[in-house]
Amino acid sequence: MEIRDQKFQIQGISLVELAKTYGSPLYVYDGQKIQDQVKQLKEAFSTVKLKIKYATKALSNINILKLMKKSGTGVDAVSIEEVKLCLHAGFTPEEIMYTPNSVSFGEIKEAVGLGVMINIDNIPMLEHFGTEYGNSVPVCIRLNPHILAGGNAKISVGHIDSKFGISILQLKHVHKVVEAYQLDVAGLHVHTGSDILDAEVFLKGAEILFDAAREFRDLRFLDFGGGFKVAYKPGDISTDMKEVGEKVSKAFKSFCDEYGRELEIWFEPGKFLVSESGTLLVKANVIKSTPASTFVGVDSGLNHLIRPMMYDAYHSVLNVSKTEGPERVYTIVGYICETDTIAADRKLKEVQEGDIIAIKNAGAYGFSMASNYNSRLRPAEVLLLDGKAHLIRERETFEDILRHQIDIGL
Ligand code: LLP
Repeated sequence: MEIRDQKFQIQGISLVELAKTYGSPLYVYDGQKIQDQVKQLKEAFSTVKLKIKYATKALSNINILKLMKKSGTGVDAVSIEEVKLCLHAGFTPEEIMYTPNSVSFGEIKEAVGLGVMINIDNIPMLEHFGTEYGNSVPVCIRLNPHILAGGNAKISVGHIDSKFGISILQLKHVHKVVEAYQLDVAGLHVHTGSDILDAEVFLKGAEILFDAAREFRDLRFLDFGGGFKVAYKPGDISTDMKEVGEKVSKAFKSFCDEYGRELEIWFEPGKFLVSESGTLLVKANVIKSTPASTFVGVDSGLNHLIRPMMYDAYHSVLNVSKTEGPERVYTIVGYICETDTIAADRKLKEVQEGDIIAIKNAGAYGFSMASNYNSRLRPAEVLLLDGKAHLIRERETFEDILRHQIDIGL
């Protein structure tokens, strides 16, 4: 985001103009930023056989998926619907990894039928898989590395008490199942958590995966999940991609030498690829001074961006209607009947009714976690590409709220 001609712009397009044209609230994505992030990741791992499996759940508009495909990534899907969405967007089954949790074997069978790689995260499903397919369909196994890391408890998923993955302490049992059904284990997977800053954590995950991999003879890839941290607060640091790339690639290469085969290294980033590309534009409906604070009430809330309320996540906010003038301290709140504080005690250029407030870093887990709570409509989405704005999702209408309700004539 830059200021030019007294306007906040992305790719030379004024954010205030976008809000005028498409209305507010509005999700805006910078396509160039997404492509730059993909490039940065590829460069960091240029000395190994890297496959990027974009974590679809972070932002799943089909145009974003198509942009990923054009940039050369594959995808990681966590529901059968995401698998279908990725196929719809043009990914081949080979490019799709399906990493479900707590799904029925029926859903896994459906995904096998669609030809995608299945990442199994519990022993009962591994047994079902063996009974049904034996060694006729390759499979990946998700291990729980027992590493406690991640930005907060809700997104730390690789620890011993997490529901995700098969415990590394249960590997003996895994091997029994693999042998009993002669499973073709093509890959092993770990995902430790989100917002992981320290390269050493990725390295620790890698070492655990290598230890497990030594006992599997025919692997083709190792998948290290996602979790790279992006900078949310001013002055925040993000995962040093170069450092992670160098350290993990070095360890990976020496493991491949030992293993006697050049494996592929997979990563499944969500936030790293799309978080910074996204801005949620909202409008100031009311400026309300109380004896304690000055609130800016906006036309959005936890129904559109739940991260601040669910994870106490910090999102930078800016009054993009003003490039000059005095500043004041405000608390930005939503219009939902809950305490939906988007940003507390922030200095912004003086806000007037109708001003557009930009909430930054809203690309990942923003729209994809949005809901119709309070019977509110979900926003439109716009993708900026080559200096042009493209509407990629219409704003919902009141009819959408009624669409699946059945009036039984009471
Ligand atoms: N792979 C697996 C198996 C995952 O469970 C996740 C995220 C990812 C990859 C991508 O992680 P990322 O690179 O985006 O950190 N809604 C939360 C984050 C939940 C992430 C869930 N799994 C948030 O907004 O912070």
